[in-house]
Amino acid sequence: MANPTDIPFTPDLHLRLLLSIDRGHNVARAVRAAVKPGARVLDAGTGSGLLALLAADAGATEVVAVDRHHVKTAERIAAHNGFADRITFVEADLADLDPADLGGRFDVLIAMIHTNNPLLDEDRSGLVIDLRRRFGTPDCRVMPGEVCYRATGCERLDWDLPTELTDLAQAGEALHGAYGWDFAPLIDAVADGVAMRSARPAKGVAHAWRSPTRSGALRFPRGDVRLLTGTTDWTTVDYQAPGFDGFPGQVRLTATAAGRLTGVIWTQQLRYADVPLWTSESYSPLAVPQLVAEGQEVVFETAGRWRTTNILRHHQPT
Ligand SMILES: C[S@@+](CC[C@H](N)C(=O)[O-])C[C@H]1O[C@@H](n2cnc3c(N)ncnc32)[C@H](O)[C@@H]1O
Repeated sequence: MANPTDIPFTPDLHLRLLLSIDRGHNVARAVRAAVKPGARVLDAGTGSGLLALLAADAGATEVVAVDRHHVKTAERIAAHNGFADRITFVEADLADLDPADLGGRFDVLIAMIHTNNPLLDEDRSGLVIDLRRRFGTPDCRVMPGEVCYRATGCERLDWDLPTELTDLAQAGEALHGAYGWDFAPLIDAVADGVAMRSARPAKGVAHAWRSPTRSGALRFPRGDVRLLTGTTDWTTVDYQAPGFDGFPGQVRLTATAAGRLTGVIWTQQLRYADVPLWTSESYSPLAVPQLVAEGQEVVFETAGRWRTTNILRHHQPT
């Protein structure tokens, strides 16, 4: 079954990404820093082809741009702008390719393939490290250079897991009343995906109180959340590292205010050499909301079931 947090990268989404002009500035800076004249560049997950154009413009002699969708559109954009002879477009899944398919190894790997959600991007981090190992020269530079995650506990006011599950149970009762049959398996299937589908802010971009250099897309409007804990540096994936062991198995937070903790906001930041490229937020609800007092420490499991349900449970010390 398709993961409900996955994003189908349709042309309108690529257009929205291009229209995030602050992101455009940041990635342009990073590409200029990463790509030296004469470099061979792989743009993995090229989308609209923006990063391939930037790499060619920065002096790459050859850019190979791969995506599993919409490559023809990116190819036309490159041709319209005079880059047809320096960028080769390949429509394929990155996992299925070998260096021999792409004419050898690359000095720079650009892999802006993240989806703004740790639950999907854990695998994508593994893919980036695997691509660098399989396609990179020994000193291949990777953009983004790292992805960092921070966690902040909050009370989310615009959406609540227990309320949604209660509504669903009532929907099941209404179906039983209307048809006389039990549709529990359908109700259960919908309930299984509820927390996944609510991971992203429904209202999208909110720019209040953000410095433009922190570049962002998805952020929960602060009227919809009340932050109740300090922000913890949860983990950083370094794309120059030889391997990636996956995310930590727990997250530890300390309440800075008393209140009803309903979940955790994850802030994901893609960076290249200290340049923030893209910052976004996602949300994981607690299975059971918890009243916290100022100074109280709480620890949640981020192993096992969180990875498939997006629902956090208390860490049980063994
Ligand atoms: C977030 S979009 C970014 C597009 C572009 N890199 C940019 O930054 O503007 C991610 C792109 O990666 C592509 N992608 C993700 N995983 C892929 C895979 N395994 N093989 C090929 N393309 C992939 C998606 O189709 C999508 O176009």
